[in-house]
Amino acid sequence: MWRFVHISDPHLSSTRDGVWNNRFLCSMMPDVLACLRSDIAKLNPDFILVTGDIVSHRSKESVFNARDMLDSLGIPYYPMGGNHDFYDMDSRAWFLDAYSEHLPTPNTVYTFLHRNVRFCVLDPWCVWDDGELMPFPKPKDPVVQEMNLRDSRWALPPEQFVWLESVLQAFPELPTCLALHYPALPVPVRLRRPDYNDAGSLENGDLLVDVLSRYPHVKAIFSGHVHTNTIVKRNELVQITTSALPEYPVEFREVRVYNDRMEVCTHGLSDSSFSEKSLIAGREYTAGEEQDRSAVISLK
Ligand SMILES: [Fe+2]
Ligand SMILES: [Fe+2]
Repeated sequence: MWRFVHISDPHLSSTRDGVWNNRFLCSMMPDVLACLRSDIAKLNPDFILVTGDIVSHRSKESVFNARDMLDSLGIPYYPMGGNHDFYDMDSRAWFLDAYSEHLPTPNTVYTFLHRNVRFCVLDPWCVWDDGELMPFPKPKDPVVQEMNLRDSRWALPPEQFVWLESVLQAFPELPTCLALHYPALPVPVRLRRPDYNDAGSLENGDLLVDVLSRYPHVKAIFSGHVHTNTIVKRNELVQITTSALPEYPVEFREVRVYNDRMEVCTHGLSDSSFSEKSLIAGREYTAGEEQDRSAVISLK
């Protein structure tokens, strides 16, 4: 058995606090990471999967500062971008520069093999108002851009479907997991409330899941973005979204990988004060229900 850890949406290098579904406390992230470092060290995972929104702000300095903060966890990790990372035309160049030692190839779309599992990391693009698919949101003035970012729509570009299928066809013999910031499947109705802030999922998520149904060796999708713990299934495919670290429930996933299965479980930090500070009474549902907090995924 070996392990990896899944964290998402750390929104590092920002002191800005606000409210999403619960209090969104970027200012506590240096302390959260210090606690996470010692909690994860006890599990001794092979690596950490970081499913995007690594930074909150658009500056090269914040990208590198966030990289240093992830490095401080002391465990190898695989980064990917989210809507807050890939904000404008310079963002991917900064990302590739900052994470050159962590990426198996100098690309935001990549694949790697770890022991008995292959991983494919994808990089969705933004759907502009006119329907065009572009790598980043349409530039607007900074205040509007903040809202623009929040309301933006994202989809997987056709080139990445071609790339993904070429990888899946080339390596049909090993179980494969996808990782990307945006969920392919939406937050299930059972977790929604009238005041739930839904960040949304891939516009062409159904198409992605349909394509994946032709490749039964694809077992799971790991994603973030919705700041909510969910585990949903479509036939044999399991999608795990993990909540944001600056927001209740301030949790991470441990994935134990055996030859025949993966076991997903959810851990809070040993210092519970972070999640207590973030929680708005009545909004505990972002931690997910029992079925969103653990799963056994067959690798056969
Ligand atoms: Fe986020
Ligand atoms: Fe996001």
